[in-house]
Amino acid sequence: MQNSPKRFTITAALPYTNGPVHIGHLAGVYVPADIYSRFQRLQGNDVAFVCGSDEHGVPITIKAKKEGITPQQVVDKYHTIIKESFQEFGITFDNYSRTSAKIHHNTASDFFEKLYEEGKFIEQTTEQFYDQEANQFLADRFIIGTCPKCGFEESYGDQCESCGTSHNATDLINPKSSITGNTPALKETKHWFLPLDKYEPWLKEWIVEGHKKDWKSNVYGQCKSWIDDGLRPRAVTRDLDWGIPVPVEGADGKVLYVWFDAPIGYISATKEWAEKEGKDWEPYWKDVDTKMLHFIGKDNIVFHCIIFPSMLKAEGSYILPENVPANEFLNLEGNKISTSKNWAVWLHEYLQDFPNQQDVLRYVLTANAPETKDNDFTWADFQARNNNELVAVFGNFINRVVVLTNKYYNGIVPKPASLSEVDLKILSELKAYPKVIESSLERYRFREAQAELMNVARLGNKYLADEEPWKKVKTDEERTKTIMYVSLQIAVALAVLSEPFLPFTSTKLKTMLCFSELDIESVWKDISNKDVLIPPAHQIAKGDLLFSKIEDGQVQQQLDKLEATKKSNEMMNSSPEPQKDTIQFDDFTKLDMRVGTILEAEKMAKTKKLLILKVDTGIDVRTIVSGIAESFSPEEVIGKKVTVLVNLAPRALRGVDSEGMILMAEAPDGKLVFLNPDDEKVSNGASIS
Ligand code: MF3
Ligand code: ZN
Repeated sequence: MQNSPKRFTITAALPYTNGPVHIGHLAGVYVPADIYSRFQRLQGNDVAFVCGSDEHGVPITIKAKKEGITPQQVVDKYHTIIKESFQEFGITFDNYSRTSAKIHHNTASDFFEKLYEEGKFIEQTTEQFYDQEANQFLADRFIIGTCPKCGFEESYGDQCESCGTSHNATDLINPKSSITGNTPALKETKHWFLPLDKYEPWLKEWIVEGHKKDWKSNVYGQCKSWIDDGLRPRAVTRDLDWGIPVPVEGADGKVLYVWFDAPIGYISATKEWAEKEGKDWEPYWKDVDTKMLHFIGKDNIVFHCIIFPSMLKAEGSYILPENVPANEFLNLEGNKISTSKNWAVWLHEYLQDFPNQQDVLRYVLTANAPETKDNDFTWADFQARNNNELVAVFGNFINRVVVLTNKYYNGIVPKPASLSEVDLKILSELKAYPKVIESSLERYRFREAQAELMNVARLGNKYLADEEPWKKVKTDEERTKTIMYVSLQIAVALAVLSEPFLPFTSTKLKTMLCFSELDIESVWKDISNKDVLIPPAHQIAKGDLLFSKIEDGQVQQQLDKLEATKKSNEMMNSSPEPQKDTIQFDDFTKLDMRVGTILEAEKMAKTKKLLILKVDTGIDVRTIVSGIAESFSPEEVIGKKVTVLVNLAPRALRGVDSEGMILMAEAPDGKLVFLNPDDEKVSNGASIS
């Protein structure tokens, strides 16, 4: 049964071109998108897998300012690095374009113009934030403030990275310019708004009612909550000088909002590809039989599920995504991956330390993919999965099959004698795997799919361990031939089924098996349909190890690198405060500081920070309320020798009179430490001068 090929348009989020790509990008977006695209191609389907660099928007201009170069120089530099990284990791985009390309400027401009001419926008003059010192409007990431929805204090003007909500900059509480740190003024300016409220009933029907069952619950849940909260018009233009000029009269100095132009980049990338291939791009975006999928990270959900679909709907001639399988975030060794803090494993650096080991990273990132919740990447887990799974299971099985076939039969596939019940059972299990893997992939469960792939290797390993051809070869030549023949069938299945997940390994394995001389046409389906995948008398090549062990030293080296990053970040953050104004000697002598000992300590009820201390100052025993509870438990401080400022005017803290102050220093991690006179010779009451 050959179904007619289906058409797929598969998009992967266009990465911002303000830095290289790291493991979080790969795990969340590009590896799953690539697995899915490769899988559909192996099924014989027609796939356009598109991506490109997102080169407009504030992040690029901020980076340019920081490095003292132009935005164009920034994007040229990172576009090349990013594109190369994707190629090196075997991400098989049919086209990797960029939003500074002419074809994209034209496509985005035309799109805007059409909506403009058809009256789909609201034109409105409103007050926007303006930095008088920097002399510019503050759009998007140029403004930081408290998110009105979740209270996160560093939300951007257009989106809160903590809760994912997209808002208007003027909604922020306590807004600050990220250029000067100033509180911005308001200034009138004209912009064009997409009235999302008008699309609300339709979005409700399309998503809330239509995709409750088939969209991932993290995606569906976010969309539903935004729609339930009510949608408002969103500005799709900005007062910035980097971007695509707004193509209407009277819009000088204004550009399209980056989130308006970037998703149109998917369309431009498809057009560019189709032009090169001599194809028509339109069916990939306009034919209702095309299945369109957007692979993204969770911070992109609102744009791909609410805003971009509303734009497409407003335009009128486009299809909508069938699914948006967004992932959550990947952390690194327990901390959020951060480009600015250099807390990341950069792909180009990984390849320097682990040359030719792309598949190991692909494997570990898929095994740990943040599909339903945030997940953690650790180097210990990386090593364990490589050594215990890829080397010990997959690699070991293939190595034994290839080495023994060469040793016993000079690499020629032996003719089996009659197949035993065990053999038949193994072969029928093998035939079931493509469907099993397919069913996981069709539900975007990549971890599960890859685990099933490993089960094929486990099946082979167990079969060899049970049948022990290396023993039987001495007593039963016919049986040995059969065992090796069956094992070789499993090896071929692995070569095919591993391709979407471990493409480099699959290629290597195919070379070892002289795959191109096999009679396998529609590949994926053949594993289920054919009785003989690799026939007797077929010659295979000499073996080569598929995977190699990762040593403790290599892991330690990576951990050391991260430790160094942590240290350097702490140093940067702990630059000492500038010196205060000069005081006279008389001012100093007014301070009466004594050595004291903490006798008792208890937490102040209903506070996080305060401890109530009884301190022996040598003069008396008095009560001091101290804000050290986040650094010490009461038990820890009892008996500690400390420095006390004793003549500070008493004051009541939460109804308790505090008579003095304990002197403390702050460590780089924010924890407090006592300035305690360690020397035995000083006793309570000793003056400090
Ligand atoms: N550049 C955005 C990010 O990195 C993603 C853009 S996706 C697109 O979060 F749809 F706009 F292209
Ligand atoms: Zn928020």
